[in-house]
Amino acid sequence: MARRLSHLGEPSPTIIEDVYARKIFNSRGEPTIEVDVIAAEGFGRASAPSGKSRGAHEAVPFPEGGVDAAVAKVEEVIAPEIIGLDAAQQSVIDDLLREVDGTENFSNIGGNTAYAVSLAVANAAASARALPLYQHLGGVACSELPYPLGNVLGGGKHAGGGAPDIQEFLVIPVGASSVSEALEAIFAVHRAVRGVIESRDPSFTGGRGDEGAWAPNASNEEALDVVYKACDQVSREMGFEVRMGLDVAASSLWNPKRQRYVYVRDGVERSTEEQLSYMLSLVEEYELAYLEDPFEEEDFESFAELTKSVKSCLVCGDDLFTTNVNRLRMGVKKGACNAIIIKINQVGTLSQAIEAVRMAKKHGLAPVVSHRSGETPDPSIAHVCVGLGCPIIKTGVVGGERVAKLNELLRIEDVLGDYARMAHLNL
Ligand code: PGA
Ligand code: ZN
Repeated sequence: MARRLSHLGEPSPTIIEDVYARKIFNSRGEPTIEVDVIAAEGFGRASAPSGKSRGAHEAVPFPEGGVDAAVAKVEEVIAPEIIGLDAAQQSVIDDLLREVDGTENFSNIGGNTAYAVSLAVANAAASARALPLYQHLGGVACSELPYPLGNVLGGGKHAGGGAPDIQEFLVIPVGASSVSEALEAIFAVHRAVRGVIESRDPSFTGGRGDEGAWAPNASNEEALDVVYKACDQVSREMGFEVRMGLDVAASSLWNPKRQRYVYVRDGVERSTEEQLSYMLSLVEEYELAYLEDPFEEEDFESFAELTKSVKSCLVCGDDLFTTNVNRLRMGVKKGACNAIIIKINQVGTLSQAIEAVRMAKKHGLAPVVSHRSGETPDPSIAHVCVGLGCPIIKTGVVGGERVAKLNELLRIEDVLGDYARMAHLNL
C-alpha cells in the first residue's frame, strides 16, 4: 500500500473536488461506464472498453447489476472516498479502489469501474498540471513512440461463421521511421487486403468484424496468404518492411474435454504437439513478427517451448497473463513469451498495469498496450503507451474508436517534433 500523504501544505491544483459517472455505449452498442473527475484546476474523463474473447483470469468487468450498478458504486461508494485526495497520487487512489472493492478480481465494484475512475484521475491530474497525459505519466524525457499493430483480417469470436478460426491477422510496419509513415502503411495494407480478397472472391460483401478487420469467407490458410501478399505489396510500395502477426486467441479453440485445438472452419483438430508444430510452421512460412496466444491460457510450457524455438518473432501472452503480475511472474520463471499484452481493464487500475509493464521490461518482455474489441473513442491508451515507454500499441486499424488512438499518436508525434523517435523493437 502506498502512503496516503496529503499535499505539502500548499493548495494543490490536483486535489479532487468532484467525481461523476454515467452510462455510455461502446463500439458494439453495449453499455459501458464513463467517469468525470474534477480537480481544483483540472478535468479528466475516461471510459472503459469491453472484451469479448476474455481471459479466465481477468478482473470481473462490472458488478452484479451491470453498468447501472457500477455508476451507483462510483457515486455512492467511490466518490466520497476519493474527493479531497490528490489526483497526482495515482497509486494512493488505485490502492483505495482495491481496498473499497475488497476482492482479488474487482468483482465487487467491477474492473471496468476501477479502470474508468483510475484513468479519469490520471487525466484530471495531467490537466491540472497542464501536461499531456503521456508526460504526466512518463516525465519530460518521454519521446519514444510505439509501432502500431493492427488487425486487417479477422475471424474467431470477433466475426461470423465463414470467417477463419484464427481471431486476428495483424500487420506491424517494423521498418517505419515515424508514426505517420507507420500509419500510412497499416491503412495501405487494410485497403490492399480488401483488394486481394475481392480478386479471389468476387462475391465478398466487404463485411468486417468487431475491430474493423475484414471478415471474408476464407479458410485460415487462404487468409494467411491474403495478408502475407498485402504486406509484401505494401512493403515494396513504401520501401520499408511491413510484417505480419497473428492473435490466435487459442483459448477459444481449445476443447478441454478432447484436449485438442478445434479449427471448425478448417475441419481440423490439433493436439498440443501438433499445435506447436503448426505455430512453428506459420512463423517460418509467413515470417511472423508477432504471435499472440498461440496456446490455451494455462499452457505456460508450450508458450515456453515456442518462445525458445523462434527467432525474430514476438511470442505474446494476452489471455495467458491478463496483465496480472502473479501470472507474469509464473511466465518469467518458465520462460514463456518475450512479449505481454497490457490491457488495463484486465487488472483494473493504472497502477497495477504500470507494475506489469515494469516487471515485463525488467525481464526483457516487450509490453504491448492494447485496446479491446468493444472500444470507445477515448484516446487515453495512446498516452499510456508513450508515457510508459511501451514499444507497440495494438489498437486496430480502422473504425473511429480505433483511429482515435492512432490520431492521438500523430498529435504526440507532432508536439514532440524533432525529439520524437520510434521505440526500439527487438526483432
Ligand atoms: P477482446 O479480445 O475481445 O477480449 O478485446 C481481443 C484480443 O484477444 O486481443
Ligand atoms: Zn488477444
